[in-house]
This record gives sequence, structure tokens and C-alpha cells, in this order.
Amino acid sequence: MTRIVVVGSINMDLVTLAPRFAGAGETLLGEHFLTAHGGKGANQAVAAARLGAEVALIGALGDDAFGQQLHDGLAREGIALEHVQRIDNCASGTASITVAEGENQIIVVPAANRYVSPEQIERAEAMIARADVVLVQMEIPLVTVEATLRLGHRLGVPVILNPAPAQPLPMEWLKLARCVTPNQHELAILLGVDNQHGSNEDFRNLMRRAPCPVVLTRGAEGAWYGDNAEPMHQPSFKVEVVDSTGAGDTFNAALAVFLHEGMPIAVRKACAAAALSVSKLGAQVGMPTLREVETLLANQTQRLTT
Ligand code: RIB
Ligand code: NA
Repeated sequence: MTRIVVVGSINMDLVTLAPRFAGAGETLLGEHFLTAHGGKGANQAVAAARLGAEVALIGALGDDAFGQQLHDGLAREGIALEHVQRIDNCASGTASITVAEGENQIIVVPAANRYVSPEQIERAEAMIARADVVLVQMEIPLVTVEATLRLGHRLGVPVILNPAPAQPLPMEWLKLARCVTPNQHELAILLGVDNQHGSNEDFRNLMRRAPCPVVLTRGAEGAWYGDNAEPMHQPSFKVEVVDSTGAGDTFNAALAVFLHEGMPIAVRKACAAAALSVSKLGAQVGMPTLREVETLLANQTQRLTT
């Protein structure tokens, strides 16, 4: 079984389905509201567990009701939570999400996630040393992201850095990662360029400037992967989008789970898993099992050969 350690945020998502996005100062009537378990770290942990990996999460929760619910949800997915600390007198992270026309807008309040510390990473050294892959994103303090990259590098355990939400980072950190997995917006911020609406060719040029392998995701356009060589393209799988929240997390988790099969296969499976995840409202709700991913890929192959 592939062993994955995820370092990252845990949020309660407050999801509103609306006919369109509201403008500043405007009040709209929405169609539906739900609370759904989220946070990039938790989402990646859940997606990896559904895909059959043995998963442990390093993170932090508040001592509020959301904290307990989020903890229990992760436990039900079979995720090891010994390294998730409970912060006294602190709220759990939240994300206020509006879903409209198949797109989303998100405002995250990190709260307890601000306390995910480098010391926590140090305390988990033995567990990280046994991992096949470590996954980390950027909804936690960047010093903790750095500590994760440094420890993984020292131990020889590959770290996948998902640079979301977008923030500039020292180039030197990227060299410590097995690969980075930005979307087009995050890639531009990461490399400090003003190019968020470029063509595929522009993005391929940008990828070549990164100091480590890049797996670039572009939603319906699919994904590109490359390490200085000519980036390869994996088309996306055509699906009807209900809610794309968590699709990137599903992609990253699948990439980690299937990394040992080599980049081309891992990227293909990650695209398939991400496509399946967008069929339901709520980040973790539509995340597929290994069998569902295999079925989609088998059907695809069949369609190509008949
Ligand atoms: O990547 C999706 C996640 O981002 C949501 O679940 C929300 O919590 C935000 O952190
Ligand atoms: Na979903």
C-alpha cells in the first residue's frame, strides 16, 4: 500500500449555490446552502485514502463544534490523525464558498491552520521517513511548508508542493520538491511574472523556467508535465461540472498515489480522478474510489479502440 503523509489545512466549507456571483454591495437570493468538509490538506488526505493509500495528516483544528465534526469525518475515512493538534480557544478554519455557473469564489479564514508549525513536522519525522510521498499546500504558515520540504529532501522522501493558494516563494525551495503542481494563475505568481491569461505556448515557456519539474493544471484544457524537456500534454476527461471545488486537491492526491507508476500514468490518472470529483456539490463529496478511476480509464480506452 502506498503511504502518503499530507501536511496542510482543514476547513469547514460554507457552500452557497447561487444563480450568479454577487457584486460589491449587492444582495442575491441563493438556491441552496450546505456545510461540507474541506481544506486543501484534508481534501488531499481524503482523496488519497479513497484511492487506496494509507494516509496520515499533519494539521490543526480549533476547539469548536466544527473541529469535532471535521475530526470525525477524517477518522471515518481511515486517516491517521495523531499529528492533528487541537488548539484551545481557537476557531477551526473556514472557507466561505459561492458556487455559480460551474465556477467558485472562495474566502478562507485559516484560524487554527495558522498553528501548523515546523515543530509539528519535526515531531513527525519518523512517520515522514516511512512515507512514499509527502503532499503539502500553502494554506498553512510558509515556514512550515519550508520545514516540510527540507525534511523530505533530507530524508530522501519525495515532496509534492501544491502552491495553492498562490503566493511567491523563494526559488530555492522549489528545488527541494519532487515537483510543483500549480494552475496557470499560481504558476505566474510562483515565477513572479505577469502572465495569467497566456496561451498554451506561453505556459509551456514558463514551465521551462521553473527550477524543478512542473505539473501544470488548466482545468478543461487538461494538464502539462515536464522537467526542462518539452512539456507533455494530457487532455482532460469530458464531464459535466457541478462544483469544481476540490478538483485540484483530488488531482494532487492521485498524482501522489500513482507517482510510483511514472509521471505520464500518474498525470493521466490524476486527470481522471479530478474529472470524477466535480460531479457533486462539496469538495470531498464526489471524490472517487480507485475502482471508479479505473472504470473511467477502461471505458476511455475502450472508446478509443472500438
Ligand atoms: O481546494 C479547495 C479547498 O480550498 C476548499 O475545500 C476550501 O476549504 C479551500 O481551502
Ligand atoms: Na465535488
